[in-house]
Amino acid sequence: MLKGKHIILGISGGIAAYKSASLLRLFIKAGAEVQVVMTPSGKEFITPVTLSALSGKPVVSEFFTANTGEWHSHVDLGLWADAMVIAPATASTIAKMANGVADNMLITTYLSAKAPVFVAPAMDLDMFAHPTTTRNLNLLRSYGNTIIEPASGELASHLVGKGRMEEPENIFKVLDDFFSRRDELKGKNLLVTAGPTYEKIDPVRFIGNYSTGKMGYAIADEAASRGAEVVIVSGPVDIAPSHPSVKVVKVESAREMLAACEEEFPSVDCAVMCAAVADYAPAECAESKIKREDSEPPVIHLVKNPDIAKALGQKKRDGQKLIGFALETDHEFDNAMKKLRSKNLDMIVLNSLRDKGAGFGTDTNKITIFTADGKETAFALKSKREVAADIIDSIINL
Ligand code: PMT
Repeated sequence: MLKGKHIILGISGGIAAYKSASLLRLFIKAGAEVQVVMTPSGKEFITPVTLSALSGKPVVSEFFTANTGEWHSHVDLGLWADAMVIAPATASTIAKMANGVADNMLITTYLSAKAPVFVAPAMDLDMFAHPTTTRNLNLLRSYGNTIIEPASGELASHLVGKGRMEEPENIFKVLDDFFSRRDELKGKNLLVTAGPTYEKIDPVRFIGNYSTGKMGYAIADEAASRGAEVVIVSGPVDIAPSHPSVKVVKVESAREMLAACEEEFPSVDCAVMCAAVADYAPAECAESKIKREDSEPPVIHLVKNPDIAKALGQKKRDGQKLIGFALETDHEFDNAMKKLRSKNLDMIVLNSLRDKGAGFGTDTNKITIFTADGKETAFALKSKREVAADIIDSIINL
């Protein structure tokens, strides 16, 4: 899908810059035309000679060539590109991109680019975890840029953690998938539920669960990147969608989630129920904080929450698809099949807490998909974004 595509490969100054040569080779082998744009410090890590030999084009790094005065137009470059990839993107380059600090050719080109931008961060784990980096990456997301999450592993500092630039093959795949799939779901509307629900006990306490929203948001991003209009009805989470077109409706309790879903459901083609909804809620929420007493601990009476998936299953119209999840700890198959039938689902995605790396909080998941017509497909442990791609592929097959 990259044949004939114009790609700007932005390289900033991090040790992962050596991997950019492999990424460049993959683009060239796929038939893309690549223009490398480097920051001054990028050149400390890999030479422009290597990159221009691989791309067949002089590398651009300065605003003009000193001895001839030839001006390098970042505006023309920005218009030429079908995609811009910044790999590696250091904390400094990310901060400059987020705040428009246009003091080098890579940033001016970024500010001029009309094409989709993909950012592959690479830095030490503490720099990556710093709130400044989180804020800057969220700003880039809000501008519509796609963040290619770094992997965990050994870093240049010999510390182990999250911050390693994603492997060139995976960055290449993100671009290849982007071009091959971007119109697959054009004209379709999707509802995705994500995250936990919080059921209030008193003004400071709630019943909740460990869901982070990562799985649901990955599904929403994947569907949006294939052209769907997506709305997430989300319980309380700390994450945001990467795709700029995804709409988020924030809710707290299961009842609020039900109300938001009932509002959205009539206008969607498909709903994916990924939220971990609390099955029970306190019968009442105390008006003020329950105090610790020396006497017996308080007894909290629970009532059943509405089953949102079931409620939508009862209203499903012809042609509408309803996808559920089953999070199990035992009797996985039987429980998943029971949920598939009782909630009138077209497909159920089973993840088991018995599988290492699956379920809550992790960046990975391991799923088996069952369809109402009896098909079963098991998948290997993958990143949640890859799992999301498998789920969307299966929905398209439905
Ligand atoms: O958010 P992450 O940290 O990335 O974790 C992802 C996940 C583990 C939460 C996700 O992959 C997942 O399994 N979500 C469903 C969790 C769950 O509540 O499963 P369940 O087996 O209890 O529910 C079955 C289905 O009914 C689910 O589609 C659920 O959304 C839905 N349900 C459940 C109860 C309820 N009251 N209303 C519902 O709609």
